[in-house]
Amino acid sequence: MIRRDILDLLQCPACAGPELTLGSGRRPDLVCASCDAHYPIVNGIPDLVAPEATPAPGTYRTETLANVIAGVYDVVAPVMSMAIWRCSPLRYIDHENRALGRARGGVYLEAPIGTGVALAPCIAPYHDVTVLGVDKSWKMLFQAQKRLKKTGASFQLIRADVNALPIKSGAVRSLQSLNGLHGFTDRVGALREFHRCLEPEGYFSGSTLVRAQTDMADAVLERYERYGIYPMLRSPEFLLQEVSAASFEGMHFETHGAVMFFAGQRTTRDETETASPSTRPASKKGASKKGGAKTSRAAKTSKGKGTAKSSRRAG
Ligand SMILES: C[S@@+](CC[C@H](N)C(=O)[O-])C[C@H]1O[C@@H](n2cnc3c(N)ncnc32)[C@H](O)[C@@H]1O
Repeated sequence: MIRRDILDLLQCPACAGPELTLGSGRRPDLVCASCDAHYPIVNGIPDLVAPEATPAPGTYRTETLANVIAGVYDVVAPVMSMAIWRCSPLRYIDHENRALGRARGGVYLEAPIGTGVALAPCIAPYHDVTVLGVDKSWKMLFQAQKRLKKTGASFQLIRADVNALPIKSGAVRSLQSLNGLHGFTDRVGALREFHRCLEPEGYFSGSTLVRAQTDMADAVLERYERYGIYPMLRSPEFLLQEVSAASFEGMHFETHGAVMFFAGQRTTRDETETASPSTRPASKKGASKKGGAKTSRAAKTSKGKGTAKSSRRAG
């Protein structure tokens, strides 16, 4: 079932109680020792989404959509990446390997994991890493489980919301969030949770779709927004400002087509407790242009097309 060392990393998503134990009922579940909430375990995957009295309509929509696309995601995502977003799928593998390497000897968290399409080619049984994968969609998780099992590596999948991660503060050494930020309804809240779960100086990386890079991608993103598929998407500058405001520092980024890859680390001190991300000015700002690859420092002076477009359309 769920390994003891993994249980020790978890906390209750509802009350943040630090002890989740295996229940003694007929159906497998985890029980919070603090608030007595019960969380079912389905096919070895604990359902650690905190019960909500009235789920927000946006949340429901995102989840339903993810369940619908799970079946075709592995075929459609690489094609979309090449044809619309103009980014080679191999870049994800590259970033995945880098992030895994940064977790050596510690905990690696992939949130959201989706179908595990980027993680599976990179993990192996001999890696000295505890791999956790989080997603809110059951269908995505089941696909990931099937795929990751074939690698022979050990891993633990968890159904959870990125806005209330059931993981103890400071437990994660490297956190990777590929193609998630653009779909989260509360992006700032998710970034705050990522920050909380990382150990001081922990590695944070990922990718997200951004506006103002190619006309074709913008046309598609425009429709995604209009039909409520994704929440408001932004320019690279805007997203980097949000990431920096959540107390990540030394952010590096590069854009490949409409995909922005970013990497940095959690601040040593927990600044989020002293100021809210919305009120604190971003410490690092950057801008990028089509296909460019640069660090945030270099980007400060960039005046590329991407910058001009983003301030016009999404600023
Ligand atoms: C575009 S997929 C990306 C998956 C994977 N990282 C990849 O690159 O293949 C976005 C994923 O985010 C998940 N997701 C969206 N909102 C979420 C939330 N609030 N909490 C957890 N997962 C969420 C969806 O279920 C979906 O699997």
